[in-house]
Amino acid sequence: MNNKNSIQVGWKWEEVNDINEWKKPDGPVMRLSYSLGSDLNKKIYDLGCGVGRHTIYFARLGYQVSASDISEEAIKETKKWLNKEGLRADVQQGRMTKINQPDNTFDLVISMNVIHHAFKNDVIKTISEIHRILKPRGIFYGTIKTKEKDEVFTNKTNVIVDDQTIILKGGVEDGIPHFFFHKEDIIEFFKDFKFESLVYTELYFPPNLEEKLLSQKGSGYYRIQVRKPA
Ligand SMILES: C[S@@+](CC[C@H](N)C(=O)[O-])C[C@H]1O[C@@H](n2cnc3c(N)ncnc32)[C@H](O)[C@@H]1O
Repeated sequence: MNNKNSIQVGWKWEEVNDINEWKKPDGPVMRLSYSLGSDLNKKIYDLGCGVGRHTIYFARLGYQVSASDISEEAIKETKKWLNKEGLRADVQQGRMTKINQPDNTFDLVISMNVIHHAFKNDVIKTISEIHRILKPRGIFYGTIKTKEKDEVFTNKTNVIVDDQTIILKGGVEDGIPHFFFHKEDIIEFFKDFKFESLVYTELYFPPNLEEKLLSQKGSGYYRIQVRKPA
């Protein structure tokens, strides 16, 4: 069996076909900027930044942005985009389980579709790193996959490690473990935070046919907003 600490593989961004889709910021993340107010000294961390859609979004608004991703290609693309727009951000290649930032530093940490890319123990380690780098009263906002609805467990090409963990085979996520949360896991793993919102949502790949929507053949996500206590 695989060493459950050792697989830390990033996305193969050079093989992503719909890369422009990954350059549009997420709506609820954009709305978060309103809650930050006009203090441009606010510090934001984009964990698993991918090709930089949220790093760029917050840098354009003028906030102090830092970001990281395990993928070399992701870091290269994010830096290229920042340079093209004449923007500044501290962007580093690194693992989510060991974030290269001091304690109590950030007002907001976002991590969109990232922290489930690991075995359970590394997911828990990542959440404790997020807690560590947030300032007291700082906010974490992110999305995670849930076991409540996902078809990947019935796809025979994936390696099923246990009833909540698979390693994807093929494609841009080849070799990456994925941990699928139950709602109880979310409550347990984020117990050192105060919950502000927990929203279940489903994602369907286009075309969004009526029959597909009705049979709910998509994948389930939770959108989480939590705050580190004062
Ligand atoms: C679905 S993409 C999302 C990218 C970005 N957050 C966004 O919303 O556009 C997941 C990202 O997580 C990164 N990732 C996966 N495992 C990681 C790890 N252990 N540490 C840091 N980043 C990781 C991948 O390389 C990839 O860029």
